[in-house]
Formats: sequence, C-alpha cells, structure tokens
Amino acid sequence: DPRQGRAFVDGERTLVDRAVFSDPALYQQELGRVFARSWLFLAHETQFGRAGDFFTTFMGADPVIVTRQRDGTYRVLLNSCRHRGMRVCRYDSGNAKAFTCPYHGWSYGTDGTLIAVPEERAAYGERLDRSEWGLAAVPRVETYKGLVFGTWDTEIPPLREYLGDVTYFLDVLLDPDGQGAVMVPGVHKWRMRGNWKLAAEQFAGDTYHVASTHLSAVLAEPGRSDEAPMPTTGFQVAMSGGHGIGGLDGFDYWRTAGFSEEVCEWMAGLADRAERHLGRPRARDAVFFHGNVFPNLSLLFIRSNLRIWHPKGPDAMEVYSWAVVPASAPPAVRRALLLDYQRHFGPSGTWEQDDGEQWHYSAGSGDGFIARGLPLHYRMGHERVPQASFPDFPGSVDDVYSEANQRCFYERWSELMAVPHPAEFRDGARPGIGTAGGSVDA
Ligand code: FES
Ligand code: FE
Repeated sequence: DPRQGRAFVDGERTLVDRAVFSDPALYQQELGRVFARSWLFLAHETQFGRAGDFFTTFMGADPVIVTRQRDGTYRVLLNSCRHRGMRVCRYDSGNAKAFTCPYHGWSYGTDGTLIAVPEERAAYGERLDRSEWGLAAVPRVETYKGLVFGTWDTEIPPLREYLGDVTYFLDVLLDPDGQGAVMVPGVHKWRMRGNWKLAAEQFAGDTYHVASTHLSAVLAEPGRSDEAPMPTTGFQVAMSGGHGIGGLDGFDYWRTAGFSEEVCEWMAGLADRAERHLGRPRARDAVFFHGNVFPNLSLLFIRSNLRIWHPKGPDAMEVYSWAVVPASAPPAVRRALLLDYQRHFGPSGTWEQDDGEQWHYSAGSGDGFIARGLPLHYRMGHERVPQASFPDFPGSVDDVYSEANQRCFYERWSELMAVPHPAEFRDGARPGIGTAGGSVDA
C-alpha cells in the first residue's frame, strides 16, 4: 500500500503517489523514519566564534539548540523544557552560560544538564533528581568542511560515509581552492506553502524547470548575451544515499552573470586555483547549478547559497538560507556574491519567488478526491542509456534532462519509510517516554 510509505506506485518506479506530499499520517511517519534516521544539517562552524555561542534550528519538526562547548565540540539539545515543554531558548542565536526556561525558570547548562530549579526545596523537597531531567541531547554530532550535522540515530554510518560521493561535489562550494568557505553572517528565514519534498527533489535534479519557471528572470539577467548563450547540455548525477547534483557543460558563467570586471578577474583566478585543487572537470568542464543532500539540505553552487527545508506539516515548509563564499574572497567579491545570492534566491529574490509559486500551487495536489488517484510522472530519462560526458564524476551520471535524481531521492525515501522507527513500538509509547536522563535513544 503506497500510503504505508512507498513513493512509487508502478513496477518501473517512475510514478509517484501524490499522498507523499499531503498525507498527514505519512508526514508523522516521515518525522521518525526519515528525519530521526538521517544526518541533518544544523549550522556552519563560522557561526560559532567562542564557547557558549549558540544557534537554534530544527531537526525535522524538533526544535534544537546547537552550542559550542569549551573544548570546541558542539552539543545539540532538544529545545523543549522537561517541565512543561516550553521552548527553553527563544533567540535565533547568541552567547549563553546557561539556558533558563522563561516559564518557571528551570536552568540548563550549555551541555543540557539541569543545573538550577527555582524554589527547589520548597517545591520538590528532596524528590527531584536533577540528573534525570536534563535537556535531551542529540547523541551524534559530526562536521564536514565546516558544516555541522547531527543525528538521533545511533546506528547509521559516520557522517563522511553517509555523505559518500556527494562530498566530491560539495567541495566545489565548500572548498574550491583549499582555503575553505565561510557563511556570510545572518540567516534568511521564510515560510512557504508546500511539502518540503517538492523543494528537495527540485534541487536534487530539476534543471528542466529553469527555462519555463524562471524564463522572465533569465531574460532579465544583466550579462545575458545572444552571442555567448548558456549551453543547453549538461548533467544530472544520482548518488547512493538519495543525493543528487545537476549542472551544465562549462562556460564562463561569471561573465554572463553581469559581474564587474574586478569580480570576473578574481573569479577567473579562483578557477585557476580550483583547477589545481579540484582538477579540471570540477573547476572548468562543468558549471554546477543545484544539488540536494538527502534529506533536506540543498545547494545552489553558482548562487553561493546553502539552505535547509524544515518540514512544517504535510503542506508547509520553512527555509533557513545562508550565503556561502570562498574564505579567500576579498570584501568586494564577497559583497558581489552576497548580492547575487540575494537578488536571485534571497526571500525576495526573483528566482526564489518563481519557485515558491510553483510549490504553492502544487501543494494540496493530492487533497482532491479525484486528483488523489492520479500518480505523478517521474519518467524523464528512464530506459535511456545514460550519457557519460563526465566519466570522472562519481555516482550515476545522466543527461541534464533526466529525472534520475528524483527517482533516486524517492528510492531512498521509500527505503527508510518501509521500516518503522523502533520508537513506534516502544511499549506502545510515544518517542521520548521512559528516556529520562538527557538522551533519547533512537
Ligand atoms: Fe520550563 Fe516550567 S516549562 S520551567
Ligand atoms: Fe528554480
């Protein structure tokens, strides 16, 4: 039964059930089976300068606080008071020695330990064992080239292994010249209608929509020229683990983007350094556009953007979005890249609004009684011999017009959804019950 968590409704695995975008029961299962069993992106290390610096975000629908500890490691705490569930930390980011719940004043250390309870003796006598009522802590936190990830799953492979082949492509954004990348301070946040998978699958493999969805924005690009048009040939790469990346054959993108001569020259120098650091295929032969790291971390390489789609119910998502620039970029280049990101993919960006409109009107496409019975078409490139124009790329490389990446995304999603999360059976209890002591075992 597809409503029990299988995306595909045909034997060839090319037709997707609309229920995956709208069914409330599937959404609840997904929070446990997909989000509680994947490595989830949390923040970038450049957001944390010193001990006590924190950033609040979400893992699936669970609010969490990411804090830097004295030893430079990160601790990730469920941002929900153990007393009545109040959001303990209501700030987006900052520096703290402790987190004091605004409701009744229980205080937690930055490692999650319950350190103080107002009127403890009068209220509880000797009967409150503070060591059992700390904030739940995410059991595993690891980093890759500045990106901090956490997972509730104690069984899944280490982060590097989970990312697998996608690190080959992530490095183009995170480490083009061996000097790393930085996040421009500040996070854009906005809410949209639509299931989070509408966005994640598009970023995984949908170059196809650009010429239609973004046509007016493409025509208005300042550096656009009929003499040197963008290539129309390119690639999609599907990777085990459900990750996907896509782009076009190489061309001098930075000139077509309308940057100043100064910025173009610096980017040309960066390409030279990138060629030495990453090799020619990644530095010159391909221009990387979009990508998705399963489940919900997406990238826009040439727009210097990294973002996460937080699920907010079956029909809504919230975006957290960062500008990512090479650490070696001088201030003028950083500013140009930041403005380029904002203009295209910030909350009021032209391209961003184009996409948001598609997801807004695709949302609820499975709500109608008749529409619900009509599966969606994911057959592009199916049964075609994949092209091998980039033989050096890891993963399975196909033509730019292919939905192989989306199929790969839903293969992984279906695999996870087919296996109940152990907490679904824990003595009939909901996750978290019986796990006092500051951790939730996955
Ligand atoms: Fe946090 Fe009561 S809800 S102290
Ligand atoms: Fe788009």
